[in-house]
Amino acid sequence: MKTKIQLLLGGAMLCVVQLAYAEPIFIKAGHLLDVVTGKITNNQVITIDNGIIVNISNKLPDQTDLSKVIDLSDKFVMPGLMDMHTHVVNNLSKAFYDGYFQSPHRTTIGGIVNAEKTLLAGFTVIRNVGADNYQDVAIRNAINAGEIPGPRMAVSGPALGITGGHCDSNALNHSFKERGQGVANGPWGVREKVRENVKYQVDVIKFCATGGVFSKGTKVGQRQYTQEEMNAIVDEAHTHGRTVAAHAHGTEGIEFAIKAGVDSIEHASFLDKKTIRLAKKHGTFLSMDIYNTEYTLSEGKKNGVPQENIDKEKLVGTRQRESFTAAVKAGVNMVLGTDAGIYPHGDNAKQFSRMTRFGMTPLQAVQSATINSAKLLKWQDKVGQLKKGFFADIIAVDGNPLEDITILENVTFVMKDGKVYKD
Ligand code: ARG
Repeated sequence: MKTKIQLLLGGAMLCVVQLAYAEPIFIKAGHLLDVVTGKITNNQVITIDNGIIVNISNKLPDQTDLSKVIDLSDKFVMPGLMDMHTHVVNNLSKAFYDGYFQSPHRTTIGGIVNAEKTLLAGFTVIRNVGADNYQDVAIRNAINAGEIPGPRMAVSGPALGITGGHCDSNALNHSFKERGQGVANGPWGVREKVRENVKYQVDVIKFCATGGVFSKGTKVGQRQYTQEEMNAIVDEAHTHGRTVAAHAHGTEGIEFAIKAGVDSIEHASFLDKKTIRLAKKHGTFLSMDIYNTEYTLSEGKKNGVPQENIDKEKLVGTRQRESFTAAVKAGVNMVLGTDAGIYPHGDNAKQFSRMTRFGMTPLQAVQSATINSAKLLKWQDKVGQLKKGFFADIIAVDGNPLEDITILENVTFVMKDGKVYKD
């Protein structure tokens, strides 16, 4: 039995109190949301032991020590949220070219701060898709060791990409010999890069199938890897038990990546009937970041985002939202993926209201960030639901998210692994 009480003081703005109660502990949940059925059950008691939910019933055991009861009887209680596309070590909301002037150590510290903000916003799981120097591996490991507060993380390390492609680094002239850390070409070149990422302990392989918005000199609609290269990436990654995320805006890149067998398509901006059909057939998850376009168009210029990239955002934004509506209507597997880092970390939940505006029911939006994300990570037996045997990753809000989805922008209680981070 643990009796230790830990106080972790974060930055000036974020005073985080992490309490480890003597176990077992009990949460009195006024309204408990079942994210599978959308059913809300009132006055439930969740029992937690050693970070795991061990029971859910309708009353406290007789003579329960009240110091072990967390009273959320006026709140809506649900599983922690999951974001399948983040960049915790990036901050595009700061000056655009900052990264060139900061050491990897400095940006890692920024990543630690961002991870904490994300957790406090109610996101108890994130998938980080793209970080140089395995900074996301280091942050994940420190979180798992209990040294710093943050969500559970599935991480990719450097994203694979062709020379000069979206996942290369193209801003400086050739005399600087700038090169993205994940650059690899040819089927054997990409296999070697996947093996290297596996060697340094990534959970997921990310690659760039098409050009992108925030790279210099790439076209969003244009495919970059060949079918042969994509097949090799997916085969090698799956051989080593890693899932694969493909950045793909353009239609052909989306098609080739789905055919190669990727687990998720990131952005998926230019979908058509054929790619929607293919995604359905292959069970591919789509992770469509339909909030951040607003942030880039309103704040990008101020943050120093070059005109080239703002123009590309204008090409993508509206089309991506139309694709989102079509994919939802067709019943494709959808996850919440926000691309946090393009906009300020901690605002991840702002995407929910856009997802409902463009075609999802509130329950579908909640499911995209819980059970669907859990399936994509293959963690569906541990996270995404409040159930016996699952991790005690629990959040609470002050109203019914199925009536007003924006309530998820104000998560008032966060528990991860049975520890309270925000109360
Ligand atoms: N990382 C992506 C890229 O650079 C962001 C795209 C953002 N825009 C959007 N509408 N989803 O391509």
